[in-house]
Amino acid sequence: MSVSKKLKLGILVSGRGSNLQAIIDACEKNKIDAEVSVVISNNPGAFAMERAKKHNIPIEVVDAKNPEPEILQTLGKYRVDLVCLAGFMKILSPAFVKAYPAKIINIHPALLPAFPGLHAQKQALDAGVKMTGATVHFVDEGCDTGPIILQKSVPVLENDSLESLTQRILEAEHEIYPQAIQRIATGSLKF
Ligand code: GAR
Repeated sequence: MSVSKKLKLGILVSGRGSNLQAIIDACEKNKIDAEVSVVISNNPGAFAMERAKKHNIPIEVVDAKNPEPEILQTLGKYRVDLVCLAGFMKILSPAFVKAYPAKIINIHPALLPAFPGLHAQKQALDAGVKMTGATVHFVDEGCDTGPIILQKSVPVLENDSLESLTQRILEAEHEIYPQAIQRIATGSLKF
């Protein structure tokens, strides 16, 4: 596929950026027909920004309290086709979601609709489930409620700590996030 046909991704981050890294790696290895056009953070100290810099990807830091106007401006500037939330810890307003209809996706560390919202891994441990996982879904106006694109289940083991379960789920996240992007890039999936 020629470079011009690649899906242009705008990745929104707030923290560590391991999902961002998985997406960058998949793009660089040509595993997906996409390129990361810009990484946007509402947290100037996010380690995700260091990852982007290392790969010469443009970064933009937006206002932490009122990020949406700058995010919209930046997405337009880089002609982003698909917005990927990757550990972006702020809920987008209905107006923002309407501005990118069916073009915003999110990764969540549970098998939605189970355990939406914050601390999904702890919710799973507290509930005593034997199976949890990761979900990539389209973002709609609710919290973690949009149509599901891909899921991968992950066992909860007898002696799991929050850290060990979080790490096992993260590995599943890194697998399915690029796969979900590829489904959209190839047009095999529509919302
Ligand atoms: C990931 O586990 C992601 O699923 C979660 O934040 C983490 C970000 O890690 N997102 C949510 O909980 C959203 N509700 P990363 O910065 O290393 O990609």
